[in-house]
Amino acid sequence: MQIIHHVNELRSTLAEVRRGGRRIAVVPTMGNLHRGHIRLVETAGAQADFVVSTIFVNPMQFGAHEDLDKYPRTPDADIDKLTAAGCHCLFAPPVSEIYPEGLEQHTVVSVPGISERHCGASRPGHFDGVATVVSKLFNIVGPDVAVFGKKDYQQLQVIRKMTSDLGFDIEIVGVATERDRQGLALSSRNGYLNDSEKHTALCLIRTLTDVAKRITEGERDYRVLEQHALQIFTANGIQADYFNICQADSLVPATPADQRLVILAAGFVGATRLIDNIEIILPQ
Ligand code: PAF
Repeated sequence: MQIIHHVNELRSTLAEVRRGGRRIAVVPTMGNLHRGHIRLVETAGAQADFVVSTIFVNPMQFGAHEDLDKYPRTPDADIDKLTAAGCHCLFAPPVSEIYPEGLEQHTVVSVPGISERHCGASRPGHFDGVATVVSKLFNIVGPDVAVFGKKDYQQLQVIRKMTSDLGFDIEIVGVATERDRQGLALSSRNGYLNDSEKHTALCLIRTLTDVAKRITEGERDYRVLEQHALQIFTANGIQADYFNICQADSLVPATPADQRLVILAAGFVGATRLIDNIEIILPQ
């Protein structure tokens, strides 16, 4: 696997790949790779001839009091995992390569509406940071396909809208969430949890699954179900952020007329903010 830190070198490598008529996939990540990320790389490999993974802990998407400094950075282990997964090229730029004039002076890509709900309401500016860095990576890599995890469901929908609005000719592929044996969604932030917090965190997926079941069984009072779920979170020691039953694409509140739904949930377990979601397709 080729390891590249600078934009110019990546551009010339990829120009050569493109001249050979090969299809390019990109898998943007922030590193500290787990099985979920590896699935993304494998999916990319099945969709393209040349896979570029990026590792960049993007300062623009972290709020002032968030975990940018302590976010886990494990470059050597990541390189081993990407190599084993068949990734062709790792792009791991320093911050100065992406934001040469600093964050304040950089153009910001903002996706209206969908960025402001759910996580966007609790983490103002977060999705501007994501949309900015992802659009920049799209311009640098020029991929045919880009692969993202559905664990960050809202992020995926923000990126889909950005791709469509800005006319990027890139296929966006979403990959199902990987979970541990008990059902906890894999996340780099799980590393912050102790055993008892990991146990508490399972309440997220259990509540999502329970509410999804009630909806498939015919319950349609979504706002009542949301309140009920928030109470379960509190009773189980999760400081709830939100539990929202939404239309699957726009992420606005679902109505009983909607067929494709997603339930998005977020909450703090101790000091760690976790998110999870479940998709539902109702019969016509
Ligand atoms: O999901 C992530 O790891 C990040 O938000 C992404 C898409 C790599 C942008 O920094």
